[in-house]
Amino acid sequence: MGLSTTRFGVFNPEKPHENRITDIGPRHFWEFFPPIIQRNYGKWLYHEILEPGVLVHVSETGEKVYTVRVGGMRTMSVAFVREICDIADKYCDGYVRFTTRNNIEFMVDSEEKLEALKKDLASRKFYSGSYKFPIGGTGCSVTNIVHTQGYVHCHTPATDASSVVKALMDELFEYFQSMTLPAKVRIALACCLNMCGAVHCSDIAMVGIHRKPPVIDTEYVAKLCEIPTVIASCPLGAISPATTPDGKKTVKIREDRCMFCGNCYTMCPALPIADKEGDGIAIVAGGKVSNRISPPKFSKVVVAYLPNNFPRFPEVCQTVKKILETYAKHARKYERLGDWVERIGWERFFELCELPFTYHLLDDYRLALDTYRTSTQFRFTEAAWEVSKAARGI
Ligand code: HEM
Ligand code: HEM
Ligand code: SF4
Ligand code: SF4
Repeated sequence: MGLSTTRFGVFNPEKPHENRITDIGPRHFWEFFPPIIQRNYGKWLYHEILEPGVLVHVSETGEKVYTVRVGGMRTMSVAFVREICDIADKYCDGYVRFTTRNNIEFMVDSEEKLEALKKDLASRKFYSGSYKFPIGGTGCSVTNIVHTQGYVHCHTPATDASSVVKALMDELFEYFQSMTLPAKVRIALACCLNMCGAVHCSDIAMVGIHRKPPVIDTEYVAKLCEIPTVIASCPLGAISPATTPDGKKTVKIREDRCMFCGNCYTMCPALPIADKEGDGIAIVAGGKVSNRISPPKFSKVVVAYLPNNFPRFPEVCQTVKKILETYAKHARKYERLGDWVERIGWERFFELCELPFTYHLLDDYRLALDTYRTSTQFRFTEAAWEVSKAARGI
């Protein structure tokens, strides 16, 4: 059909509604299925992971489809997409797919094609040396990091996405290409508390945070913003209407109530909040979305703040690696990070990961009570004493 070329030149800015096509929705996925997938749709018997990054699915018709999963950087150029297409044309009859974690999957129907495909993928590098198509991300590995726009595109971030993800995937690359962990480890990043993506439900995640209240540009609040919406946007009721001495409508913010979420800036361009020194990254851990054994969990804040240390974010990378490797060392088979922590107790988690416990980690928002310990069951650890101190229990 080729909408973009057949309709090239049809748009007339004088009559924008003429020849307008709308509400046609996405193309139907069936059109893009490799024939072998079409033939065996709904008939799969079992699958095996042959090696890191390589799967085989066997159908009741006896047909086998081999899948090679390779890391994708998510933000990619058209030239790079063309290279993906070239590989798909060469080995996979032009078919290719992307996963829900933005990895790329090439599928073939024979072992000979599989070997040639793997060899080709592994040989491709960028001029600077990084692998273009590293094979991995299956089984008990660290697969791709679900991430967001960062400073590349969004206006509300407190940190960057692509650069942190690159620095961390470099650090954890061996875990992408192997399957040695107790269970899969999902890592995610969001550059502000909107949490676009999966940070709230990942084994380990990074969230961009602010540490200073917004700056109020009184000249523009009333001109650019709908003040009631701005007031309603604050989860803490810190914003109220105000009038400047010269009679302009504006807002005032109680700084002792503000927790720097940035929600009011999302509503009102006259309340910018980004700050070079204040902004940074919080680490959360222990979330999951599957229902395997234990129900899905939210991730919990374990490190309140690490600096935005461009370009390689060493503090963030070291902390995430430490949490990952402590989990890998201590958890039992099939235990996701959150399952492990719930078994050993959070105080042991902080002790084993050598993470300081601070008062920032104690919930103080509305339903906070449920997160406190209403039991005498605990272990004597330094981390446990820190909790007591932070809660002013001793
Ligand atoms: C400040 C407002 C926001 C801006 C400017 C923004 C911008 C964007 C842009 C440009 C994309 C890429 C679209 C593409 O790849 O074609 C995107 C993707 C996405 N956005 Fe937003 N967004 C904003 C807020 C949000 C919010 C509030 C959410 C969720 C509650 C959200 C969730 C997502 C998700 C899930 C994706 C897809 C990411 C992916 O899988 O690649 N965004 N956004
Ligand atoms: C109580 C609130 C929420 C619950 C219970 C929830 C639950 C879930 C579940 C069960 C999944 C997994 C779906 C699957 O793998 O099939 C998921 C994935 C996801 N959620 Fe949420 N979610 C919540 C809020 C949010 C919010 C607020 C956002 C964005 C701002 C969000 C963005 C996403 C994204 C982008 C994924 C896909 C992650 C991936 O492909 O790995 N969710 N969520
Ligand atoms: S997480 Fe926040 S800053 Fe990042 S893309 Fe989403 S809205 Fe923008
Ligand atoms: S940053 Fe968040 S907490 Fe602070 S005033 Fe704005 S909406 Fe309220």
